[in-house]
Amino acid sequence: MSDEWAKRQEDNDMKLHLQSLLNNAESDGNPLRWFEDLYDSADGDSSQIPWARMEVNPILKDELEREYLEPGRALMVGCGLGDDAIFLEQLGWKVVAFDLSPSCINWCKERFGTSSVIWEVADVTQPPEEWLGEFDLVVEIHILQAIQIEARIEAAKVLPKFLRPNGRIISIGRELTSRVVEISPPPWPLARAWLMEQFSSLEKVLFQPIILNDWPDIDRYIGVWKRPKEK
Ligand SMILES: C[S@@+](CC[C@H](N)C(=O)[O-])C[C@H]1O[C@@H](n2cnc3c(N)ncnc32)[C@H](O)[C@@H]1O
Repeated sequence: MSDEWAKRQEDNDMKLHLQSLLNNAESDGNPLRWFEDLYDSADGDSSQIPWARMEVNPILKDELEREYLEPGRALMVGCGLGDDAIFLEQLGWKVVAFDLSPSCINWCKERFGTSSVIWEVADVTQPPEEWLGEFDLVVEIHILQAIQIEARIEAAKVLPKFLRPNGRIISIGRELTSRVVEISPPPWPLARAWLMEQFSSLEKVLFQPIILNDWPDIDRYIGVWKRPKEK
């Protein structure tokens, strides 16, 4: 299994390009704007998007094969180029997939025009009210770790609010461990204790460290939390 983001981060030109987009966005006081700038400047070339696998995330796939969940309504947060949303659709879920970047969402619509996935532009920190309490599954892959701390805290507060009773959050990303060396972020690997605290209103289903064969130096995790059934 490959990690395109890790591979492309080793590419110095890519690193400099991302850093310059990020610096410009931060100095303009709109730190999350670099995502739109990146998708826009890629002009339909997915090799310019360091995290784009163009296939389902293998950790998500393994988790949904490990435990069968009865398909219901799913929300894909920060959906990127859309492959994970399409995977859920293929499993029978009714999927809403959203991203902050309009260019990213247009790209998803071009790639998957005939799918039943509802593609939306939205900011996870200010979601449409009609999404609250409406989903059986909320998936965030590499979102919390990709955004600066202020937005990350806001986003983590919102995620549990999307859930119906018994609904689950699946969170996948890099774990902050003693092996992590300081490289210029993003991503910001996440501490297990921080994640546990953010989702402490939910029941923990699992938290598992993961190392992918091709990238033994990167510590990752999958966390699953469930909203308790109301009594
Ligand atoms: C590192 S990428 C991961 C994309 C995708 N989940 C994947 O694994 O390929 C982070 C994504 O989150 C989106 N994003 C960043 N901030 C966001 C926000 N506040 N609300 C919604 N999406 C956001 C970005 O535009 C980008 O597509």
